[in-house]
Amino acid sequence: MLVDDFGREVSGVRISLTDRCNFDCVYCHNEGLGDTRGPMDPAEEEMTADDVVRFLEVVEEFGVEKVKFTGGEPMLRQDLEEIIERTPDSMETSLTTNGTFLPGRAEALKAAGLSRVNVSQDALDPEAFAEITKSGAYDKVMEGVQAALDAGLDPVKLNMVVFEHTAGYVEEMVDHVAENPGLQLQLIEYMPELTGRPEWNIDIQRVHDWLEEKADRVETRDMHHRRRYFVGEGMVEIVDPVENEDFCANCHRVRVTHKGFLKGCLNRNDDLRPMGEMSRAEIREAYREVVENRVPYYGEYLVRDDDDEWVINEEYIGA
Ligand code: GTP
Ligand code: 5AD
Ligand code: SF4
Repeated sequence: MLVDDFGREVSGVRISLTDRCNFDCVYCHNEGLGDTRGPMDPAEEEMTADDVVRFLEVVEEFGVEKVKFTGGEPMLRQDLEEIIERTPDSMETSLTTNGTFLPGRAEALKAAGLSRVNVSQDALDPEAFAEITKSGAYDKVMEGVQAALDAGLDPVKLNMVVFEHTAGYVEEMVDHVAENPGLQLQLIEYMPELTGRPEWNIDIQRVHDWLEEKADRVETRDMHHRRRYFVGEGMVEIVDPVENEDFCANCHRVRVTHKGFLKGCLNRNDDLRPMGEMSRAEIREAYREVVENRVPYYGEYLVRDDDDEWVINEEYIGA
């Protein structure tokens, strides 16, 4: 596995397959690209299945063992099953989706080799759900979660962004996963940078404190040093890139945008490498360079030197 200057092994890749989406969530960071287009604008220069598979075969050589497919809404790609089918067998495959297309396709995804799925579900209340997602698909999403469970995708994680619109629904959602085996919950700290609405932020530490009291057991996951709280039959993980100072220091993923640009960090767009038309040898080289240049985002990882240039803060090297 390749290791960057901060001692972070790259064990996984996160691939956006499209930036199209049938929802228009008020908080959407569009995988770090911001609000680049209308929700259902026609596809433009998306990677082909061949591009995706070629990239995966190359990074397999570097020991990458996990791949996450995201969007926009990745299930808008009709060739998703084909891509999963052609993903190297050595890799664990997961999908992050809004869930609307899972009824009818969850079984095919499982048969193609998908291991597990994360479904965005920000509220159990249909009205709040509609207000956040700007969609009337609440019933479809509930059906989709059930279809994923029935198909044997394991675990099925629910993603809930904790911000002003949802803070009042956290307890209800925690109880929901505590009572439903097979479900896990990810409570996600709101990342305000790309939405322009900082006033929606709420202090995620309050949620940690509340869960600490409520949980039977607590552990810390290696990836991003995320805390996991075990409550009843369920597990609740907090994804807190902004407030958790160990998050970026333990980030083991490289990203690929829907147009096929490699990038070292979700929130950075200054190191994009186009992959379209590249040979395997060129992809290998680009991947190496992106890993070499990876810099964490949240935290004091870069400091100004005597010549006023940004340099890596020595304290963090090999952290
Ligand atoms: P798994 O738990 O392994 O399935 O991955 P995940 O939780 O990262 O997947 P998912 O796509 O469901 O993302 C959940 C939230 O984590 C989203 O808000 C992502 O934007 C956020 N996220 C995932 N990776 C990173 C990262 O490296 N940096 C930041 N800032 N946020 C991330
Ligand atoms: N802050 C935190 N999480 C976000 N997501 C989308 N935008 C944001 C944001 N601004 C999450 C959603 C979705 C996942 C792909 O990213 O929960 O499930
Ligand atoms: Fe963005 Fe995901 Fe919501 Fe679609 S479902 S608008 S990609 S957060």
